[in-house]
Amino acid sequence: MKQIRKAVFPVAGLGTRFLPATKAMPKEMLPVVDRPLIQHVVDEARQAGIEHFIFVTGRNKGVIEDHFDRQFELEMTLRERQRSKDLELLAKDLPGAGSTSFTRQQEPLGLGHAVWCARELIGDEPFALLLPDVLVKHPRGCLAQMIDAAQGLDRANVIAVEEVPMERIHSYGVVGVGETKGPLFKVTDMVEKPAREKAPSNLIITGRYILQPEIFGILASQSRGAGGEIQLTDAMIALAKTQAFYGLKFAGESFDCGSKIGFLAANVAYALERPDLAQALRAELKRLIADKP
Ligand code: G1P
Repeated sequence: MKQIRKAVFPVAGLGTRFLPATKAMPKEMLPVVDRPLIQHVVDEARQAGIEHFIFVTGRNKGVIEDHFDRQFELEMTLRERQRSKDLELLAKDLPGAGSTSFTRQQEPLGLGHAVWCARELIGDEPFALLLPDVLVKHPRGCLAQMIDAAQGLDRANVIAVEEVPMERIHSYGVVGVGETKGPLFKVTDMVEKPAREKAPSNLIITGRYILQPEIFGILASQSRGAGGEIQLTDAMIALAKTQAFYGLKFAGESFDCGSKIGFLAANVAYALERPDLAQALRAELKRLIADKP
């Protein structure tokens, strides 16, 4: 497989589930401990060797662009105050000059449409897609595991999957499981947000994809699927008729930060791994839980 150099981050969603926090601030900027959600996901992409970061934004999302730029006034003040640790941290997170692109999804027409908006920036090469609602906590990250597993495959698509309890299945895209091929398995079916009885398995699409550029030709037809939206899953079903589609049960723990419980759990889990926070947080959590009935 050709090297995966570019990654798409769809960040145009309204974030209504987190109102009023997201009234003026993009949901992707909500912090998990002290890094915005989108920064965690960009970190995962960088770790997997991604060189170009493409953000599909919308109205009121300008702060995301600012976040991945330099902040001269802040840097100057930090320098005057000799806060070299903070300066180092900012420098480490800054993407290289020219390695980010921003385009806008003008209308909220669905994930498939958001991805299609990146077609000119991707061009004719396979790319990664990372949904910033989902965090995967693993030393190697999820995308790197997918890229490793896809080595040696030609023009293949790979999606990360994980098991969820059947009562949550209707919130996700669900895959059918075929024969295994090394660490991967062949995806035989994909259904977006199925009723429990219609779900082909208990394996959901987790929000990490490696896709071939032919997906754009299919998305161009702009046909509507579940919820009246242009669904990426429908385009993937069409692409699977002509190209290989594989699933990877990745290692690591995922957090659906599109839900409040997932977001809160992510904050606790990430903080418990921080040497500067773990001990004090553990004590505080114990106290809080003991006080409650
Ligand atoms: C999207 C995808 C779905 C996937 C999910 C993962 O749904 O359409 O297939 O399982 O992300 O979080 P959304 O959460 O945008 O409704």
